[in-house]
Amino acid sequence: MLSTESKKHIDREVAKYPADQKQSAVMSALRIAQEEHGWLSTEVMNAVAEYLEMPAIAVYEVATFYEMYNLKPMGRHKLTVCTNLPCALSGATEFCQRLKDKLGIGFGEVTADGEFGLKEGQCFGACGDAPVLLVNNHKMHSFMDEEKLDALLQELKS
Ligand code: FES
Repeated sequence: MLSTESKKHIDREVAKYPADQKQSAVMSALRIAQEEHGWLSTEVMNAVAEYLEMPAIAVYEVATFYEMYNLKPMGRHKLTVCTNLPCALSGATEFCQRLKDKLGIGFGEVTADGEFGLKEGQCFGACGDAPVLLVNNHKMHSFMDEEKLDALLQELKS
């Protein structure tokens, strides 16, 4: 379930901890596994558990706690918008509604063509930049408005 390349990346993370603390790299290992597969199926989480020599339940606990992990396929581009109070007070709620209307999906859903998935996010630590949107957990877009949203969706589609 884990490619040689992914295992190499995980090994690099494991090396940051004492030899008997391999499980400390579980968050990184899940990120790497998700990058390989797009989401974390039970089989993938089990493979991470086996590789890190830790109980599978402990891996599930981490994967289900943090929302950056996808427990189901979330499309080619996962869009996560922070909806916490500071962002909500700065227009995130209205922005989310526009985004949902444009994509025709709600939180936790994926467009029929598989291009976009939408997720509700917790604070990204960029509260002053609201509304903020994260693409595939990696690229943050700040001060989102209708114009920026249209340009971003167009760019991601092409
Ligand atoms: S509350 Fe939204 S980024 Fe902090």
